Amino acid sequence: MSRVISVVNQKGGTGKTTSVINISAYLARLGYKTLIVDMEPQANATLYLGIDPLSLEQSMYDVLLKEAVSLGDIILSTEIENLHIAPAQVSLSNTDINLADKPNKQYRLKEKLSSVKDRYDYIVIDCPPSLSLLPVNALTASDELIIPLQPKYLSLEGLKQLKVSLDRTRTELNPSLKMLGILFTMADMRLKMTKHCMDLVKEHFGDKVFSSVIRVYSKFNEAPITGQSIFEYAPQSRGAEDYKSLTEEIVNRGNIFYNNSFFPIVTASQRTRKFF
Ligand SMILES: Nc1ncnc2c1ncn2[C@@H]1O[C@H](COP(=O)(O)OP(=O)(O)OP(=O)(O)O)[C@@H](O)[C@H]1O
Ligand SMILES: [Mg+2]
Repeated sequence: MSRVISVVNQKGGTGKTTSVINISAYLARLGYKTLIVDMEPQANATLYLGIDPLSLEQSMYDVLLKEAVSLGDIILSTEIENLHIAPAQVSLSNTDINLADKPNKQYRLKEKLSSVKDRYDYIVIDCPPSLSLLPVNALTASDELIIPLQPKYLSLEGLKQLKVSLDRTRTELNPSLKMLGILFTMADMRLKMTKHCMDLVKEHFGDKVFSSVIRVYSKFNEAPITGQSIFEYAPQSRGAEDYKSLTEEIVNRGNIFYNNSFFPIVTASQRTRKFF
C-alpha cells in the first residue's frame, strides 16, 4: 500500500522543497518506488530535478483542471533511480481562480492520484507557501503530513495559524489525515533561541516532533544547481546524515504511529499555551 505524504507550511522558505527532494531521494535509495508531486507554481522541485518547466507541454495544472489529462500522462522519470516527478509550471498559480466554480474542487488531486497510486510505495507532495486550493488539494489527497519548521519565534506564530487551518481541513475534507511529524529545519544549534523554540514545540506536540533535526548547512543552497540530492552532492556531510536519519524515522513512524491521533496535546505549560 502506498503512503501519500504532504509537506506543508504556509510560511515561505521553511525547507519544504529541500525536504521533499531529499526525503524522496533517500526513499528511492532504499529501493522504494517514489513519486514527487509538485504542487508549487514556482516549480522549485521540478527545477531542482533538472526539468525546465517551460519545456513541458503539460503539468500539474492540466491534471487538476482538465478531465482528459491523467496524472500518468505527465509523470517523468528522473536521474535518480526509483524517483519520478509530476512536474509543475507557473500556470499552477491560476488554479484557484480556474477551479473556483468546478465541482469537487478540493478533491481534484485525490481523484487523479487514484489511477497511479498502486505504482508507488511513497508519494511526496511539495506544497506552496499558502493556504490556497493547492495545499487543500494536497491535504485532501494525503494520508499524512509533515510540517517543516524553522526553530524561530515567528515560526511558532505561523504554526498556530497552520494548526487552525489543518484542523478545519481534517474535519471538513479528510478525517483520516494523520500528522506524521513536525520537522525542525535549518536549525542553528549554536543559538540558545533554537533550543528554546524546539523545547516549546516539543512541550506542546510531544512525540509528533521528529527526533531527527535538519541542521543549517550551506551546501543545501548549492546542491540544487547541480540537480543532485544531498546524498550525491555531499554524501558524507551532516546534511546527508540528517536527511538519512529523518527518512528512516518516516519509514519507521509509518509502522509504529500510523493509528495515532492528529495533534495529541501533551501537558502544555502556561508558557507554551500562549503559542497554540
Ligand atoms: N538545512 C538547511 N540549511 C541551510 N539552508 C537551507 C536548509 N534547508 C533549506 N535551505 C535553503 O533555504 C532556502 C529555502 O528552502 P526551500 O526552498 O526548501 O524552502 P520552501 O519552504 O520550499 O520555500 P517556499 O515556501 O518558497 O516554497 C533555499 O535556498 C534552501 O537551499
Ligand atoms: Mg518550496
